[in-house]
Amino acid sequence: MENFIAYNPTKLHFGSGVINNLGKAGKEYGERVLLVYGKGSVLRNGSYDQTKGQLEKIHAEIFEFSGIKPNPVIDDVDAAVRFGLSEKIDYIVAVGGGSVIDSAKIISVCIAERCKGWDVMKNKVSIQSSVPMIAVLTLAATGTEMNPVSVLQNNRTREKIGFSHPSMFPRHSFLDPTYTRTVPANYTAYGIVDLIAHALENFFGYGEASLSDRFVEAIIKEAFDCGPQLMKNLSDYDLRARVMWAATNALNGLTGYGRSSGDWGVHAIGHILSFLYDTPHGATLSIAYPAWLKHLKSRIPDRIRKLGEHLLDEPDVEKVIQQVENFFRSLNSPVRLQEIGINADKKMVILELMNTNKVTGQHHRLDDSDRSIILDWMFS
Ligand code: NZQ
Ligand code: ZN
Repeated sequence: MENFIAYNPTKLHFGSGVINNLGKAGKEYGERVLLVYGKGSVLRNGSYDQTKGQLEKIHAEIFEFSGIKPNPVIDDVDAAVRFGLSEKIDYIVAVGGGSVIDSAKIISVCIAERCKGWDVMKNKVSIQSSVPMIAVLTLAATGTEMNPVSVLQNNRTREKIGFSHPSMFPRHSFLDPTYTRTVPANYTAYGIVDLIAHALENFFGYGEASLSDRFVEAIIKEAFDCGPQLMKNLSDYDLRARVMWAATNALNGLTGYGRSSGDWGVHAIGHILSFLYDTPHGATLSIAYPAWLKHLKSRIPDRIRKLGEHLLDEPDVEKVIQQVENFFRSLNSPVRLQEIGINADKKMVILELMNTNKVTGQHHRLDDSDRSIILDWMFS
């Protein structure tokens, strides 16, 4: 086992009606609140009205910043920072999915440090503090509600990258599965893929950590069990709750303790596709994971076999990979680039950016030739 620090200060409120505690939580942080959300889904699932109701109850002064897009961009973050600074806000409430909450994390640092968002993402700021941020999650997928990570895109530098800092944990996160009942089938599937991918990225990281392996297996088993049921009944509260809790645990530290890093090579590949084609995050992963496994199988046969034996009662490496791919396909998440309208004539465009941005895993390093072969599998 590798050395590790277990630290997770987010106070997570889970279940139907938990939003009723938001006012009390917010009151601790001041009077002036920046309410951040996306392109409007929150107006239709009750989360916006109920969050605002809570803030009105404590007589907060509310300043709204909306329009955060999926695959969020740094310019929106900087615009929100300017607005937040001019209104002298005391804290932030972010209502939405990963894109909104990730943006809010960097907004919270930049307001406290009076700096540019991309300087934070590039680790050029010595972060001393952040404005408190409360998250209200409306989409189960990323785990951002209980981790210190933000993933943002910069169209000038042609990058989509992640950054992590302990000051970026949400102070409170409110997870009412009811809000996720309006998530359409495609994004529901992408969320299930994403949580499985997070467990896998940790499983293929560096270090022997048997308990974390078991957490990985349990989380993926839970997704294999309730994911397909949820796809058939999108408004089922209990199934929404199970997927939501699985997604939180896939990336809140649990699956990584005892390893010095996860791998994250598949995510790095996925970010290239999201950057170039605005592909939803989970869709990039259902395409890239099977391809990555097919290429890496000769380097990590024992790891894939272990996963197969524990998860699927299947020791054959080829069959394990096929079953993972089949599972993604059964959710109707794409498993080849052509299925999202990207044909083989785009190979060089994608490969060029992958090579320029030196896409690699932290544990399983990828070179130009690896990237080319993995890309071929994504088209095959
Ligand atoms: O913009 P609005 O109108 O809110 O609509 C969103 C968006 O169109 C919609 N939506 C959200 N909640 C809904 C809903 N629609 C109906 N009902 C609801 N209850 O769903 C669409 C996708 O939202 P988004 O926030 O982009 O999805 P997700 O939560 O999957 O977040 C993806 C982003 O998170 C990053 C990804 O790279 C991507 O940019 N990630 C963040 C991570 C982290 N912070 O730890 C780790 C992940 O690996 C990932 O990289
Ligand atoms: Zn992810």
